[in-house]
Amino acid sequence: MNWFRDWMMPMQASEHAAKVDNLYMFIFWLTMAFFVLICYLTVAFAWKYKRKKEGVLTINFQHNLALELAWSIIPLVLVIGVFFWGFNDYAAASVAPNDALEIHVTGKKWSWTFEYPDGTRSIRSLHVPVNKPIRLILTSEDVLHAFFIPVLRTKTDIIPGRYVDINFTATVPGKHQVFCAEYCGKDHSGMMADLFVDSPAKYAEWLEKGDEELYKMKPADLGKMVWEMKGCNSCHTVDGKKGEGPSFKGLFGRTEKFKDGSTMVVDENYIRESILNPQAKVVAGFEPVMPTFQGLLREIEIKGVIAYLKELK
Ligand code: CUA
Repeated sequence: MNWFRDWMMPMQASEHAAKVDNLYMFIFWLTMAFFVLICYLTVAFAWKYKRKKEGVLTINFQHNLALELAWSIIPLVLVIGVFFWGFNDYAAASVAPNDALEIHVTGKKWSWTFEYPDGTRSIRSLHVPVNKPIRLILTSEDVLHAFFIPVLRTKTDIIPGRYVDINFTATVPGKHQVFCAEYCGKDHSGMMADLFVDSPAKYAEWLEKGDEELYKMKPADLGKMVWEMKGCNSCHTVDGKKGEGPSFKGLFGRTEKFKDGSTMVVDENYIRESILNPQAKVVAGFEPVMPTFQGLLREIEIKGVIAYLKELK
């Protein structure tokens, strides 16, 4: 009957998917069996007990204890069995193994962002190594979304202001589809992502290179994203208001005064130095509290920040 399952269901790309399908098919055929039985009995009894002749009464049954016990106890045992079967599979999928690779997922109208343990980030494409336990930690920045990967038979609602998780081990390399399964506004139907299940070598190579979507972004847009995601925005405003650090508004090309009394016109190299070695030149009136971003930003992200600053006239 595997052809029937494969015809109804998407591919099974994890062990959990096979477990879900087994239980699903069991329930399907169980309900099928009862459906046929009940239809048959309805017709058979209607035929058997139909009034044969005018004025002749059919037999009058009151009780059949054995029958009543049977139709109560047999279904009860079946549904309790289904409950424990499902509960076991659910519990197994709910607990991440200790060596699971943790990837953060953020839903936002209308795209998905993924953050990997080494700081790599990707947009609309989730890369995971094959046969490695993965724990996704998901949250939303705005409204309810739902993260749905049909080939893994896994789906969860994503709620702003809280983390939920999904655990899986993908077993089939290739590109699979991720959907948003909760109506979240105008472009809900386009809120998709690709799941790439890679060999460990290919995954490592991808991590090294970074996400190609970042390369497709306008540099200033990428810079704005870095400003938000790396927390630059907690100290540096873009509207001219003074924060822990100088505002970014109108910074590029301005002559900046430093603690040691020297001055300098803000250019690309100054911004780059201030990101990677923030204590080198501390602006007068501010404390040297900024941590270094050495090793935390890719070259393309630094360029993006510079492009973003240039736009903030
Ligand atoms: Cu997000 Cu629908």
